[in-house]
Amino acid sequence: MKPKILVYMRVDDRVIKELEKNYDLTSFQNHEYIGNRAFDQALKETDGIIGLALKVNKELLDLAPNLKIVSNVSVGYDNLDIKELTKRKIMATNTPGVLDDTTADAIFGLLLSTARRIPELDHVVKAGKWDISLQPDQYGVDVHHKTLGIIGMGNIGRAIAQRAHFGFGMDILYHNRSRNIEVEQQYKATYCELDDLLNQSDFVCLMVPATNDTYKMMSAAEFKKMKKTAIFINGSRGKNVDEDALYHALKNGDIHAAGVDVFEQEPTNPNNPLLQLKNIVTLPHIGSSTTECEFNMSKLAAKNLHAGLSRKKAPSLINE
Ligand code: DGY
Repeated sequence: MKPKILVYMRVDDRVIKELEKNYDLTSFQNHEYIGNRAFDQALKETDGIIGLALKVNKELLDLAPNLKIVSNVSVGYDNLDIKELTKRKIMATNTPGVLDDTTADAIFGLLLSTARRIPELDHVVKAGKWDISLQPDQYGVDVHHKTLGIIGMGNIGRAIAQRAHFGFGMDILYHNRSRNIEVEQQYKATYCELDDLLNQSDFVCLMVPATNDTYKMMSAAEFKKMKKTAIFINGSRGKNVDEDALYHALKNGDIHAAGVDVFEQEPTNPNNPLLQLKNIVTLPHIGSSTTECEFNMSKLAAKNLHAGLSRKKAPSLINE
């Protein structure tokens, strides 16, 4: 009998076809399945889970007595209770390394879109409201040769620094748990304390993982430390930002604008007050979502799953 696998949300079809050769798959394509009989039944029998953003906590694990591995199709793993998985000797894996450039492209796109007001001006043209001369209140702000502050200098932070330095001649400040000498040498980045980064940067880009330590780390006090002309970009996780504080900072002019790829609740409620503001550009958490990158992430996740179920060391095991 083939081992049973629960597939949750985004796994590339080509990878699914490969997995089907060795495993018996049951797929769930959206959040609504949680708590349903079919989902609970699949959990009861499953040997492995592969997918995106399934909240794996004690409650779910109690329903999955045969589970050996949870293979996340993402680099972030704030959806997994690693302590509980480790206690139960269940492997947890993620997909680092294959999405850094793709995500950095998206974050830079968001930064440019916010600075140059691209979505708003696109709408002007498409709505037939292109007046012969643009008004100064429709101008954007320069990105090139400005100061970019990156909070969280992991692999994606580094790929953003590379683009900023070589592509846009920006000065780079960064704050991180530890110094990254390679980034300092390659991209002339300067390490600094968070407060210094906040009050010196023209663009502040948040790229830290979601942990207890980073929960709402960008709050009213932090936005007040930023320049009034600065732009805030969140490419990390929504929980790292106090959305209410961001709303007030944008509304009161404490900061100039923001671009966010992530929200505290995803999908965000259409009534989220942030969505009413003109000076915010939003994306539906698509940092790594290109055809190529999603395929590569799914391939790595399948490799992790396969290794785990074959009792070999998974390439990107989180809980050693
Ligand atoms: C990641 O890989 O963590 C992306 O944000 C998708 O969740």
